[in-house]
Amino acid sequence: MSYADIEKEFAFEVYPKRDLTLVRGQGVTVWDDADKSYIDCTAGVGVANVGHGNPRVAEAIAQQAATLTTCAGIFYNDVRARLLEKLVGIAPDGLNRAFLCNSGTESMEAAIKFARHATGKTEFVCAMRGFHGRTMGALSATFKYRDQYEPLLGGFSFVPFNKIEKLRNALSDSTAAVILEPVQGEGGIRPADPDYMDAVQALCTEKGILLIVDEIQTGLCRTGSMFASDRYGITPDILCLAKALGGGVPIGAVLTGDRITPAIGMHGSTFGGNPLACAAALATIEFMEENDLCEHAREMGDWFAKQFRGKQPARVRELRQTGLMIGIELKEKATPFLMTLMEEGVLALSAGPTVIRLLPPLTITREELGVVIEKLLKVLAD
Ligand SMILES: Cc1ncc(COP(=O)(O)O)c(C=O)c1O
Repeated sequence: MSYADIEKEFAFEVYPKRDLTLVRGQGVTVWDDADKSYIDCTAGVGVANVGHGNPRVAEAIAQQAATLTTCAGIFYNDVRARLLEKLVGIAPDGLNRAFLCNSGTESMEAAIKFARHATGKTEFVCAMRGFHGRTMGALSATFKYRDQYEPLLGGFSFVPFNKIEKLRNALSDSTAAVILEPVQGEGGIRPADPDYMDAVQALCTEKGILLIVDEIQTGLCRTGSMFASDRYGITPDILCLAKALGGGVPIGAVLTGDRITPAIGMHGSTFGGNPLACAAALATIEFMEENDLCEHAREMGDWFAKQFRGKQPARVRELRQTGLMIGIELKEKATPFLMTLMEEGVLALSAGPTVIRLLPPLTITREELGVVIEKLLKVLAD
């Protein structure tokens, strides 16, 4: 039996699978079980920002695995302390504490609880096309994927993205927080307009409403700065983080500002802040800083956009790019093109029915990106 067959028999399958078994990765490249290589523009859905098998991260994990992997939140820990300090050090101004968890959806789950705790209010205004995770709280803030699970949490409403008057009209005295992605990822790689973000921040401040920014996909150099919030010059009250933080090891974080006060017993997690994930995250952030990965992502992303736009095939409606968060919206369905691209040795994602999404490791070189462009142009040719 092949590995695919074994998964088919034993997995409680919830994913639309591609016929590909990946067994190894190094940098931007992954290999299948027949030793065919691919340029990986999925990066585990925006996880492997520092590349697969990053030696710095691998070394930190190996060392920590032999030292101490688990340490309950009731004790202090050396590696956790260093990560918390580092996270607050890189966070947008005004965010001065972090709660550690294990995934993106958990980070949003905690953010919802923290906002309710801080305000005593239960209503949230979120964006249409927004995605914040699959657990019941995070799903309540998510626009899609909810139908099968109603009733979800009450108090969540949705407004069109980038329309400030719609947001203003949706806010009330019962609103605890506004929840937004600075660049909608799953929703099709749709960046917020800078004026919109400024206005959202001003509106939240004016009305005393918290601003929760979901940087689970945009965080950690993906958009060409450590956080997309830095690009927009905004100061959220809560910033959610996960995906790339652990260099491949599961970890999430909720960064909080002065308006969110912690209290003993308000939340918790067995694995949250475990030293193994913390060591991986520390090594990941240090690698990003030492290699100026944000700057590299910005340069590579801009270069990609320039090259691609110069030769843009007719079936492309629009290219949307911020750093190495890239969406190519087609005038037709994206899936068939993703499959041909895979045959050509490039793995990419979708983001909605018509958008090809590229989230390559941020270590990608101009040469590797050149191959991606060449293959894209071949596959999308008329
Ligand atoms: C913006 C955003 N928020 C939340 C999530 C959920 O993260 P996780 O899959 O780690 O639960 C994702 C995952 O794709 C995401 O892109």
